[in-house]
Order: sequence, then C-alpha cells, then structure tokens
Amino acid sequence: MNYFVHPTAIIDPPCEIGPDTKIWHFAHICAQAAIGSRCIFGQNTMVAGNVTIGDNVKVQNNVSIYSGTIVESDVFLGPSCVLTNVTNPRSQVNRHSLYERTLIRRGATIGANATIICGVTLGRYCFIAAGSVVTKDVPDYALMVGVPARRRGWMSRHGHIHRPGADGARLCPQSGFRYELTPTGVLCCLDLDEEAPLQAELAVGKKVYDEFKAR
Ligand SMILES: CC(C)(COP(=O)(O)OP(=O)(O)OC[C@H]1O[C@@H](n2cnc3c(N)ncnc32)[C@H](O)[C@@H]1OP(=O)(O)O)[C@@H](O)C(=O)NCCC(=O)NCCS
Repeated sequence: MNYFVHPTAIIDPPCEIGPDTKIWHFAHICAQAAIGSRCIFGQNTMVAGNVTIGDNVKVQNNVSIYSGTIVESDVFLGPSCVLTNVTNPRSQVNRHSLYERTLIRRGATIGANATIICGVTLGRYCFIAAGSVVTKDVPDYALMVGVPARRRGWMSRHGHIHRPGADGARLCPQSGFRYELTPTGVLCCLDLDEEAPLQAELAVGKKVYDEFKAR
C-alpha cells in the first residue's frame, strides 16, 4: 500500500487509491471509487461508489462526494461544502439509478460551505466563494459569489482577481501570467496552457491574499 489511511478511516474494497494519497480521521471511501495520486481527504469526508477523482485533489473536512460526481485533478473542495446528486429528491421515490452528473474541472475551487446543485459543470480554475449556491454551469476562471451565485469577476490560476490594465492586459499579481478574454467571452491564460502543470517555483504561496490585493 503506497498511500496513507488513518486507523479510524474506512475503505471498502474494491476501490482504487493512487500513490501518496492521504486519508484522514473518520473518512469513508466506498467500493468502486477511483482516486488518483497525492490527494488529501480530511476528517469526516466521504467518497461514494463510482466517483472518479483525479490527482492532487484537496478535500477539506466534512465533505461528501456523491455518486454522479467527477472531480478532475487539482481541485480544492473547501470545508463543509455540499455537493448534490438529485435535483428533486423525495424520500418516497427511489431515484438511485437517476443520479445527475456534476463535473468539477481541473483546478476549480469550491469555498467553505458552498452548495453545488447537481447537473452542472464547474469550469477549469473557477472559484466559488464561501457560502455561495451554484445553480448553473460556471465558465473557466469565473469568480462566482452569492445565492444564487453570480459571476463577480475572473480569478487567475493562483486565485487572484484580475482586471484589464490601461493596455488591456490582465495580469495575475502573483504569477505575472497574462490572461485574455476572447471575443466569445472565454477567459484563457496566454502564458500557461490550462492543462499544463504549474512549475514548482510557482506552486508555493509567499504572501497572503490582501498583500496582492493592495497593489
Ligand atoms: C470570494 C473571496 C475570495 C473574495 O475575497 P475578497 O476579494 O477579499 O472580497 P472582499 O472582502 O473585498 O469583498 C468584496 C465584496 O464581496 C462580498 N463578499 C466577499 N466574499 C463573499 C462571499 N463569500 N459571499 C458573499 N459576498 C461576499 C463582500 O461582502 C464585499 O461586498 P461589498 O463590496 O458590498 O462590501 C472570499 O470572500 C472567499 O469567499 N474566499 C473563500 C474562502 C474559503 O472558503 N476558504 C476555504 C479554505 S479555508
């Protein structure tokens, strides 16, 4: 076994767990789950059967990932955020074969206590603010805030809001990466492909959020 499981966690075989993944206190990984490498599952987390999770996914305390959810690599699920898998649940009506799909794409962040209504796709590197309720698909890099969640801006891969400068360029204050809004309204990074890994020197935070914000 090349992953870590705390003695209080429960793993139901058969399931796949990649190397260097850590599963902490009272977590429960159900049979048929497939989890990649270098993930972290905090206290009281649950991964249901048939859920697929990529590499380097961070799942904070008290998060349940229900059947129907696909989590790509580098996703951050904040503490006590809520995923769902039936839009119209009724205790008297069995909809076990009707779980709806929620796709959380690479690098997305879901803030603490946010709720995701099932059937949506959260785009790459989107950022769902704490406590928001997401009811619709979210574009790549979108910052979504509120109930219901509305787009309040664009976040960089490093989690900073950026706006166009005098020359029209959008710069991330941490990485210096340039971002561009295409005529179709899609935001993309000009300096690093969304699917490319982050260079090691850019993968460590050195200043808190507000220090960048003040600039
Ligand atoms: C979205 C977020 C990044 C914005 O941070 P920020 O840029 O510092 O935002 P500000 O504090 O300047 O707030 C700007 C406005 O948005 C509002 N706002 C900020 N976060 C909000 C939220 N989660 N929900 C609703 N409104 C929010 C503020 O009240 C403020 O409103 P105002 O202009 O009417 O006064 C941050 O609030 C957030 O939700 N981070 C997630 C934290 C988290 O869940 N971490 C989990 C790991 S511990």
